[in-house]
Amino acid sequence: MPEVSPSILASDLSNLAEVLSAVETADRLHIDIMDGHFVPNISMGFPIVESLQGHTPLPIDLHMMVANPLELIDRVSTLDIDSATIHVEAIEDVSAFKRRAETAGITTGLAINPETDIDGLGPQLSEINRITVMGVTPGFTGQTFQPEVLEKVELLDETFDGRIEVDGGITLETARQCVGAGADILVSGSTIFQSDDEVKTIDALRTVSAE
Ligand code: DX5
Ligand code: ZN
Repeated sequence: MPEVSPSILASDLSNLAEVLSAVETADRLHIDIMDGHFVPNISMGFPIVESLQGHTPLPIDLHMMVANPLELIDRVSTLDIDSATIHVEAIEDVSAFKRRAETAGITTGLAINPETDIDGLGPQLSEINRITVMGVTPGFTGQTFQPEVLEKVELLDETFDGRIEVDGGITLETARQCVGAGADILVSGSTIFQSDDEVKTIDALRTVSAE
């Protein structure tokens, strides 16, 4: 069964404490941060992460859609988070980020945009044990899943030793396709937070693959 990681960017941001308690049955918590450069949007920043970190039992994954993740590593290291996901398009020296995150007890994942090929990523992939395949061009919630990325998930399933996460455009239908292709973790924003019942939707996303 896949793990489910709710992306709170799609939730009612005026009510985050309640949002966090509504998704406590999930496996992880996905927080999107953006810098207005790597993606044409700005979402949440470090102070918000800090104020949320004591309010959830879930391990927090920080999805860093920023142009220079290495520049932010000192600040990231102060956070009480489980993992940071950085974009392969934004960093060459994955091991430098990973080493410094590790000293703060934070694991590193690598995200790849839909148009980024995984050929040639061998050295970077060998550094990490979780890869996030973006199902949409990052920057916004509620976009439509790009089915071409399923091929990447399949290929990674055959060649990559770690866990495969898919982020963006996850619905019950695309969740089934992603898990069929080899995904282990599903990040979901609007499907969870636009539903009437977050707990049921999280369960449905977990079980859909078994149908
Ligand atoms: C996109 C973000 C995703 C997004 C997912 O830039 O990285 O995490 O919030 O939202 P949905 O599930 O609505 O595509
Ligand atoms: Zn994300």
